[in-house]
Amino acid sequence: MDHNTLRRFGEIIPKTHRNHNFLFSLFLFVFFFFSSHAAFDLATIPFNDGYSPLFGDSNVVRSDDGNGVNLLLDRFTGSGFISSSMYKYGFFSANIKLPSNYTAGICVAFYTSNGDVFEKTHDELDFEFLGNLAGKPWRFQTNLYGNGSTHRGREERYRLWFDPTKEYHRYSILWTAKNVVFYIDEVPIREVLRSAEMGADYPSKPMSLYATIWDASNWATSGGKYKVNYKYAPFVAEFKDLVLKGCSVDPIEESTVAGRSICSDQHADLEAQDYAAVTPRRRLAMRRFRQRYMYYSYCYDTLRYPNPLPECDIIPSEKQRFKETGRLKFGGSHRRQSRRKARTTTPVDDADQGDM
Ligand SMILES: *[C@@H]1O[C@H](CO)[C@@H](O)[C@H](O)[C@H]1NC(C)=O
Ligand SMILES: *[C@@H]1O[C@H](CO)[C@@H](O)[C@H](O)[C@H]1NC(C)=O
Repeated sequence: MDHNTLRRFGEIIPKTHRNHNFLFSLFLFVFFFFSSHAAFDLATIPFNDGYSPLFGDSNVVRSDDGNGVNLLLDRFTGSGFISSSMYKYGFFSANIKLPSNYTAGICVAFYTSNGDVFEKTHDELDFEFLGNLAGKPWRFQTNLYGNGSTHRGREERYRLWFDPTKEYHRYSILWTAKNVVFYIDEVPIREVLRSAEMGADYPSKPMSLYATIWDASNWATSGGKYKVNYKYAPFVAEFKDLVLKGCSVDPIEESTVAGRSICSDQHADLEAQDYAAVTPRRRLAMRRFRQRYMYYSYCYDTLRYPNPLPECDIIPSEKQRFKETGRLKFGGSHRRQSRRKARTTTPVDDADQGDM
């Protein structure tokens, strides 16, 4: 993340609006989250053109128009789909609606991986949505692995600013030679800049896109405290308006012709897309998202990583909100909200949810 840009924003805003700080912040929040994000211009593809069922085929239910698919979890099986090709760099995106009501123990994942091809040295980029008790909000995490670095988790966990079970929202993973950006709608929520120090921990081999729903009773909700209750099955995650943009390559064969990557043009095209530019305005929206909704970061978990991993961009004002466990010092990122939470304390709270 570009410290200077962020610092500049941090200085300009309070100085010019010192007397209207609160209102102005509120305005910015509303402005950046709800009004200023023109939708990306995306070419979507029909399900059958880019994907096929991965498991639980009977629970992979295509929509009539062919542009969407529902993934079901029932007492017999979960389900999933996978892209028919592997891609070296790309933009992977879908409109997703998560199952509602009682979803404890359920994990819905939207991710890229090559674990089927490179068992010991796989790469992975994850969105993982972690179900919850009825009436409690969904939480989710993002993660990244490179070259089998599974003992170096890079989890961040967050709340959402909307109910993901009410409407479709777009979740996207941008992966280029320079950076990885996780988007929700048009808000970048996390950027990982490739650095030399990261070495092979940065995903660098072709990956497939996966989407799955599965029973994660032992892990997903409060570290396994709440199991899937099949009384409420089937659980349905809905996907539509799918986007696969990238250079499709064979994961094993050399993909160079006369020393030039066969993907050069497609990489240039990818990097020229609107979503590849984390503009200062988007960066500010990302900062604000992270201030309000991130409740765990491996970068601030000094018990786990006494020396933060090399890509970590330690922002002092952000760091002071976190304990050495990488979890928030207070239940919520917002004081008023944490007070409200404290009054209606239940077994499920931020601290419980932070288990890795
Ligand atoms: C939602 O879950 C509650 C239990 O947590 C249950 O009583 C209720 O019937 C469920 N509603 C629907 C629409 O499934
Ligand atoms: C990836 O991991 C394998 C096995 O640990 C290692 O042999 C290889 O050198 C690594 N690749 C890179 C680019 O570091």
